[in-house]
Amino acid sequence: MAAATKKSQFVMKLFIIFCPFTLHIIQGLEAASAGVAQHPAWMLLDAQDCGDSVADRIIGGTNAGLGQFPWIARLGYRSKELTSGIEWLCGGALITPLHVVTAAHCINSAGFILEWVRLGEHNTLTDPDCQLWTCAPPVQDIAIERVLPHLNFSNFHQDLAMLVLKTPAVFNDYVAPICLPRPELPGPLLGEPLTVAGWGKMNMTTEERATVLQYVQVPLVPPAACDIFGHGFKTSAGEVCAGAVMNKDACGGDSGGPLMKVYDTPEGPKTYLVGVVSFGPTICGIKKPGVYTSVSYYLNWILDKLLVNK
Ligand SMILES: *[C@@H]1O[C@H](CO)[C@@H](O)[C@H](O)[C@H]1NC(C)=O
Ligand SMILES: *[C@@H]1O[C@H](CO)[C@@H](O)[C@H](O)[C@H]1NC(C)=O
Repeated sequence: MAAATKKSQFVMKLFIIFCPFTLHIIQGLEAASAGVAQHPAWMLLDAQDCGDSVADRIIGGTNAGLGQFPWIARLGYRSKELTSGIEWLCGGALITPLHVVTAAHCINSAGFILEWVRLGEHNTLTDPDCQLWTCAPPVQDIAIERVLPHLNFSNFHQDLAMLVLKTPAVFNDYVAPICLPRPELPGPLLGEPLTVAGWGKMNMTTEERATVLQYVQVPLVPPAACDIFGHGFKTSAGEVCAGAVMNKDACGGDSGGPLMKVYDTPEGPKTYLVGVVSFGPTICGIKKPGVYTSVSYYLNWILDKLLVNK
């Protein structure tokens, strides 16, 4: 027994030496690279005041608690055909008072012009939103100043974009930024549950969606599990595959919305942005994994965009 363990440890070591890439795939996601701490935009991020959630207000079910995901943004579009009304069709994640991370495919929607970011939303039918005896302040609708897609976005690869807001978000318990990955935090392991949240819509043509913010846990699965979507799609290094054991009734998040992991930190539990909903997971009731853009993989790109217009 002991000998067998020793032998397997030895084999494991060889494996680490010769197959670091394969090992990465087998174990989970890589942490953010150490180099990001040298990026000039790194210090613009507030490592303390991010990722904090009023989680004790969760009431259960898959409905989110009021203020559970205060970084969740909804993206508002004006239809090119209809003259009035804003449609809220994608999600995003607030990372600074002026920056929202989303998916590139959310900014080139045929027939729609992306104009607004809505923060502090919970129940789309009520404003203000209340739960038990607590009410959140009204939502903040902020116009978008600049849209910065990843320039190599194509066929759902590099599906990442940064939105720069015209005026800064006003932080409160219901509007607050999520943390970005840090080099000292290990990447999630295979099988580890991650959380995705949204109003459960991803089909730009149908109206059906949840009115209260929903969340669901999706385990990290090997990248190859996502090579099932046809059209020659193959998961690449910048993508995360998660899901496949969702509840029958669970709905995933909106396209562009956050894939999240909570880490214990010296300042208490904080939520970090692991991925951006790209495609696949948001069809309610379908047991298929979903593809997410990896935030640690594109962290330098994200930091570069924080310096645009500064
Ligand atoms: C896009 O791809 C080209 C060619 O592979 C590369 O040189 C360039 O750096 C990429 N752009 C970004 C923003 O990653
Ligand atoms: C969206 O809904 C329409 C109408 O039901 C359907 O034809 C289309 O295939 C759906 N698209 C996706 C991506 O599911």
